[in-house]
This record gives sequence, C-alpha cells and structure tokens, in this order.
Amino acid sequence: MKTDINRLNRSAITMILLAGIGMATTGYAASKAKVNKGKKLYQQNCIFCHQADAIGKPGVAPSLTNPEFLATSSDKFIKGTIRDGRSGTGMPPFSHLGRSGIDAIVAFLRAHAKKPNRSKEIDKQLHTQGDARLGKLWFDSICSTCHGKNGDGYMAGGTGTAIGNKSFLSKATDGFIRETIKHGRSNTRMIGYKGPQAMAALSDREIDDIISYMRTLGKK
Ligand code: HEC
Ligand code: HEC
Repeated sequence: MKTDINRLNRSAITMILLAGIGMATTGYAASKAKVNKGKKLYQQNCIFCHQADAIGKPGVAPSLTNPEFLATSSDKFIKGTIRDGRSGTGMPPFSHLGRSGIDAIVAFLRAHAKKPNRSKEIDKQLHTQGDARLGKLWFDSICSTCHGKNGDGYMAGGTGTAIGNKSFLSKATDGFIRETIKHGRSNTRMIGYKGPQAMAALSDREIDDIISYMRTLGKK
C-alpha cells in the first residue's frame, strides 16, 4: 500500500514535470518560429541592401543589428520605417509584408540585441528647446561631412543616413536622436559626441541646438 502511494506520487510528479517542460518548449518554439519566419523574410527582402546578418554597408544601408541602434529604437520606430520606407532615400516601403510579417522581421532583428532596450525611457525624454541657428553652424561644420548638406544622406554622396529627411524625422523622437548623437553606434562611422571617446565634445545644449536645426529640415 505504502509503495503504491509512493509510486502514484512519483508518476504524478513526473507528469507535472513533463507538462512543465512541454509548456516551456512550446513557448520557446513559438518565438523561435517567429524569429525563423523573420529571418526568412529578411533574407528575401532586405539582405540585398542591409547585408547578411543585417550589418549594413556604408553608403548603401545602415546596420540593423547594431547594439546601440537596437537599444535606442522602439518597435514603433522600426516597424513604421519598414512599413512606410523612407521616401526620398533608398529605403522602400514594405507594407505588403503585413503586420505579422513585419513583426517577425523585428523579432529576428531583436534576437541580435546585446544590450537592454531602453527606448521606452529614451522616447520619454524632454523635447529640445535648442537654438536652430546655432545648431545649423554645428551641423554644417560636423554632421554634413557624412550626412550631406541638408541631411540628404547617401543621396548627397555621404556615408551617413538621411537625418534631414521628413519621413525619418516624423518617426524619430528627440530622445532617440539625442542618444544617437551622444553615444553613436559602435563599429559604424557614427561616433558619439559625448564622453571620453567623443570625436568632438558637444555640450547637452549644443546637441539640442543641432536637433532643433534638424527639426527645421524636416518641415521642408
Ligand atoms: C534597396 C535597398 C534597401 C532594401 C531592399 C531595404 N532597405 Fe532598409 N534602408 C535602406 C537605406 C538606404 C536606408 C537608410 C535611409 C536613409 O538614408 O535614411 C534604410 C534604412 C532602414 C531602417 C532605418 C535604420 C536606422 O538606422 O534608422 C530600417 C529599420 C530598415 N531600413 C529596415 C529594412 C528592412 C527590414 C528591410 C527588408 C524588409 C529593408 N530595410 C530593405 C535601403 C534598403
Ligand atoms: C564620420 C561620419 C559621420 C559624422 C561626422 C556624423 N555621423 Fe551620424 N551617422 C553616421 C553613420 C554612418 C550613421 C549610420 C550608422 C550605420 O551605417 O549603421 C549615422 C547615424 C546617425 C543618426 C541615426 C539616423 C538613423 O537613420 O537612424 C543620427 C540621428 C545621426 N547620425 C546624427 C548625427 C549628427 C547630428 C551629427 C553631427 C553632430 C553626425 N551624425 C555626425 C556617420 C556620421
């Protein structure tokens, strides 16, 4: 009798354990399936410009697996950019992939993340109150070298993206732009302008002046 109960208990425990493992593997399998779907869609639609593993190529397309890019950009920004493209640049719209296709691509890109996603807090940062006239001086002397005179990007022969482009500026928050200017994107030509590794040290106010100037470009 005693051994029967023991045996019963043991099989019950085994069943609970198995159920637990089963649930864990399905959860894992589901997201893995999404990532795989995204990988496939990425290979079919994006690899030509953004390269294998989405590492990008200067003057062709930016890196989409860059750790700082993934840590600062919200799903809303990435999904919106994929859906609408960036008109006036080489980035075409992909609305035909549908919401689930675009979600899967973002899951695939996010699977490369090496840093926590801080986009929620970054997007809540204050709006800039900078002086656009001063910002233009900085922009013309520093940023235009890579991003083009009016932030036209590759179209102007630069290696930086079209940061004066209306469809970029309509999706990018001031916090996202500010973080990118401050800390840059590692292993790309976008070096940060704040801290010990900065290419040229800009103060918080000067960075906000530049963002205010960029906002005037977006209205053109
Ligand atoms: C024909 C080339 C081309 C193809 C194909 C393409 N892109 Fe792009 N993409 C670009 C270019 C060029 C840019 C930068 C535009 C600019 O200068 O601002 C870009 C920018 C982006 C950005 C914004 C990145 C940032 O740093 O803000 C995202 C996100 C993106 N592409 C995702 C995708 C995805 C996902 C696909 C496939 C579904 C794709 N792109 C296919 C050329 C392409
Ligand atoms: C030496 C070249 C270079 C200089 C100078 C430079 N950038 Fe960049 N910037 C880049 C590149 C390259 C990228 C995209 C990274 C990639 O290719 O993956 C970038 C990306 C960005 C982005 C993100 C745009 C997007 O599409 O998501 C912003 C914002 C930005 N730069 C702002 C600035 C500002 C403002 C300045 C001047 C203070 C500046 N950059 C100076 C090369 C440069």
